[in-house]
Amino acid sequence: MTIDLAALPEDFLWGTATSAYQIEGAVSEDGRSPSIWDTFSHTPGKIDNGDDGDAACDHYHRWREDIGIMRQLGTNAYRLSVAWPRVVPGGDGPVNAKGLAFYDEVIDGLLEAGITPSVTLYHWDLPQVLQDRGGWPARDTAEHFAAYASVVAERLGDRVKHWTTLNEPLCSAWIGHLEGRMAPGFTDLTAAVRTSYHLLLGHGLATQAIRAAVPGAQVGIVNNLSDIQPATDRPEDVAAAKRLDGHTNRWWLDPVHGRGFPADMVEVYGVELPEVAGDLETIAAPLDWLGLNYYFPSTVADDPTGPAPHVRSISRPGVPRTAMDWEVEAAGIERLLLRLTHDYGARKLYITENGSAYPDVVRPDGVVDDPERAAYLEQHLAACASAVRKGVPLAGYFAWSLLDNFEWAYGYDKRFGLVHVDYKTQKRTIKGSGHRYAEIVREHLGRGRSAA
Ligand code: FCB
Repeated sequence: MTIDLAALPEDFLWGTATSAYQIEGAVSEDGRSPSIWDTFSHTPGKIDNGDDGDAACDHYHRWREDIGIMRQLGTNAYRLSVAWPRVVPGGDGPVNAKGLAFYDEVIDGLLEAGITPSVTLYHWDLPQVLQDRGGWPARDTAEHFAAYASVVAERLGDRVKHWTTLNEPLCSAWIGHLEGRMAPGFTDLTAAVRTSYHLLLGHGLATQAIRAAVPGAQVGIVNNLSDIQPATDRPEDVAAAKRLDGHTNRWWLDPVHGRGFPADMVEVYGVELPEVAGDLETIAAPLDWLGLNYYFPSTVADDPTGPAPHVRSISRPGVPRTAMDWEVEAAGIERLLLRLTHDYGARKLYITENGSAYPDVVRPDGVVDDPERAAYLEQHLAACASAVRKGVPLAGYFAWSLLDNFEWAYGYDKRFGLVHVDYKTQKRTIKGSGHRYAEIVREHLGRGRSAA
């Protein structure tokens, strides 16, 4: 498939993304303390096949090789996350020099390779000690998060300008505290609502901390938003789609845009917000950009007996699906980009994650042929380019993921990488989709060079 890359800006960031717990391994090395994901993954029955992140991709020791792979792909940006329990193992208080030194070296390695680092401060790995003291349902956690953000920003901010406070706070709050499918594994609406509030408060406080430490910082938040259609035009299903929109989109976007928490959803949850005067202004600290993680569209029906927001997902027959059973619909990414631009006045957007899982195999000749992933990539990039032609200020695209990795509750079975990882040997093999991505990146960057 040819993608019309001409519309994309010349300084477009072409990246890959990962997160600390999913790739690093080395969970007890150099002073790292356990996170809620260590606890959760070691709780029987929580992760498919009893997998855990103890070794993951061993990136903690193999990061030089992994930067070498990025060089081979020709990408000019990389989105990584910093593990809070490595840097501040006690949750608050003393800084672990070795933990910080690891990221320091990685950042230098990236810059030497001509790759712009984009650093996420929280990709779900809360230090377990803070969970034991109340976790995100407790207000203190937001303050500790800002203090940790300040430590990282002060150390890396001379070289890192792209900062993300939170990755997908929706997952931490709703999946971690309401549905119980992710750490810490609660099913408690009150805890979930309080978590959502304190995450956003932590985001606002961390934004201030980063700006105070880093001149010229570009700060954003990363959300996984849903492109939602009602299953039928019955008023009940239309109302269900509006509730899911509130739950997955407006609840996360409105407060950071100074619109407060959506009143209709406050009513649906029926939980009092732990608001202190001034919080809403903190949460609405001005941002430089918004990150969108997009994987699949949602079709929903009313489900009055289910938990808040009382909706049920419908799977549409005949729509192609990935190994996650997620529907493939590239038009969804374009609709969300347009919505962020028109409804929220976004001035700069990044696709901070987008990708697909398929059951890849390394052939005897060493090749990993994954045409479905390559097609997914092409279709979604074409939809991004189409959004840009319609005026969307898209400044970069980060493919999820650089490597196959620990896919949370699904363990290692679900492979999202552009690069295959053999977990027995830690051998990395660039997949067909990785080669295709490299070709697209080369074509676009080559265009910029020849125009210059
Ligand atoms: C997102 C997460 C990321 C990865 C992808 C598949 O929700 O941010 O860590 O697991 O899904």
